Amino acid sequence: MQPVLAFDVYGTLIDTQGVTEELERRLADGSRAQEFARRWREKQLEYSFRFGLMGAYVAFAECTRRALIFTDRALQTGLSDNDCDHLMTLYGELPAFDDVRPALAGLKEAGFRCVAFSNGTEEAVAGLLGRAGVSAYIDDWVSVDAIKRFKPDPAVYAYLRSRLDVRPEHTWLVSSNAFDVIGAKHAGLKSAWVRRRSDAPFDPWGIEPDMTVTDLESFSTRIMG
Ligand code: 2OP
Repeated sequence: MQPVLAFDVYGTLIDTQGVTEELERRLADGSRAQEFARRWREKQLEYSFRFGLMGAYVAFAECTRRALIFTDRALQTGLSDNDCDHLMTLYGELPAFDDVRPALAGLKEAGFRCVAFSNGTEEAVAGLLGRAGVSAYIDDWVSVDAIKRFKPDPAVYAYLRSRLDVRPEHTWLVSSNAFDVIGAKHAGLKSAWVRRRSDAPFDPWGIEPDMTVTDLESFSTRIMG
C-alpha cells in the first residue's frame, strides 16, 4: 500500500522569500527586508501557538496580518495601511519552489496520493497553490481550520488521518518546519524534514525525522526507493 504524503505549505511547497523582494521595495531601508521577513514569519507562528494555547482560534491569515503589524512596530519601519494590504495580498500569491512541480509530478506518476496540509484555510491554500501552478498535483487539501486548532496540536494530525482515512504508519508529513515534523512524529505519523537551508538547525527535542532531505526531488527519489 502506497503511503499518503501530506505536504506542509508555507516554506515547504511555497517560497515565502517573495515577500522579501517586495519588502526591499517598500521599506525605507531595503536592507532590513531579510530581517523583517524572518521576524514576520517567526511572529506569525508564535501567534498561532499563542492563539492555540489560549483556546482563541483565529484564521491563520489573521495571525499573518497581526504579525505584520507587530513586526512593523517592532522595527519601526513605518509601513502604511496600503503597504500592509499589499503585502497581505502578496502572501496569497507566493511562488512554489522550483523543485515542487517536478517532484509532485513524479510522485503522482508513481501512484502516490499527495495532499496539502496547512494551518491556512482550505480556501486560502487552494487559491495559493492554484496561483502557484501546483494544484494539478494535489489530490486533497486538509486545513486545521476544520477543527479550529493549530499545528503542532496532536489533534490536527489525528484530524489529518481521520480525514484521509489512513493509518499513522502509512502517513508521511513532509515539512520544512521542524516544529511540524516533531508534532507529526509525536502524534505517531512518519515525517520527512525538508532542510531547505543548509544551516537550519533542528530542535533538541529527542524526536528525529524519519528522513531528512534538502528538497522535494530528493524526497521523491527516496520515498519511491
Ligand atoms: C503551514 O503551512 C504554518 O507552514 C505552516 O501549516
